Amino acid sequence: MLALARGFLERKGLGEARLEAELLVAHALQVDRLGLFMRLDAPIQGAEVDLARDCLVRRGRREPTAYIVGQREFFGRDFAVGPGALVPRPETELIVDLARERIPAAKTAGLRVADVGTGSGCLAVTLALELEGAVVDAIDLSEEALAWASRNAESHDASVSLHRGEGLEKLEELAGVGGPFDLIVSNPPYVEPTERELLSPEVREHEPPLALYAPSADPDFWARGLIELVPRVLKPGGLLLVELGHLQGQRVHQLAEGSGARSAEIVDDLAGVPRVLALVR
Ligand SMILES: C[S@@+](CC[C@H](N)C(=O)[O-])C[C@H]1O[C@@H](n2cnc3c(N)ncnc32)[C@H](O)[C@@H]1O
Repeated sequence: MLALARGFLERKGLGEARLEAELLVAHALQVDRLGLFMRLDAPIQGAEVDLARDCLVRRGRREPTAYIVGQREFFGRDFAVGPGALVPRPETELIVDLARERIPAAKTAGLRVADVGTGSGCLAVTLALELEGAVVDAIDLSEEALAWASRNAESHDASVSLHRGEGLEKLEELAGVGGPFDLIVSNPPYVEPTERELLSPEVREHEPPLALYAPSADPDFWARGLIELVPRVLKPGGLLLVELGHLQGQRVHQLAEGSGARSAEIVDDLAGVPRVLALVR
């Protein structure tokens, strides 16, 4: 089955056909990749063949592997994902690294955290668990995304409150009710519509447009909006972390520097791409 799966995926032009075949067949047999190799000479049931075939056909149509197997790892934990939620990306883990690095462990109890555009909830849930005692509000406009976030908050037993609404308006409303936040994070949609054709079919045809494309074709819309809101939603000394697209760094740095913030820098990801705005009010 592995050989057939690999051959099929190669013919469909998938780069990592061997790895993908192993992941999908393991999923169909309800084992992990190690388990797969431990039962290489065990007979395969008809239902398992059917499920594997179904998974491979979906993958052949370039559906993201994470949607087919129903999960993706983020910061060492599994998050349930499917259509309607962006698949968590490794570069987004930089936001968690920066939060952990810059907020002293002794100061996380009762820390007020907001995640704007929470999607699967990967940032909100991870921060609630990594910053012990933090209380996290997560916002999204998409009901489908919030359903995934809710499932993930529950399965990880994370203290996250979910809110449906327009990101910036809801953030201001929450700050008005509960007071300004200590930490605000966001991985907002920042792809320009003209870049659509550069995206892989997995992203372009399967992930939610609301999670991908910048509003009004303005990639800086969210970074600018969040920077402008800082005086009303972030405590003095509080930290804002926003993920950026690869061409935004310089522009957003200028915006942040001119905003009167105590400090503003753009931090590179592991690939050397300017990736996250880190601003201290
Ligand atoms: C790039 S995804 C990030 C998801 C998740 N935080 C992550 O890093 O994987 C952006 C998210 O913002 C949400 N979003 C888009 N426009 C929004 C708006 N106007 N108000 C609130 N959320 C919005 C999308 O539904 C999507 O879940």
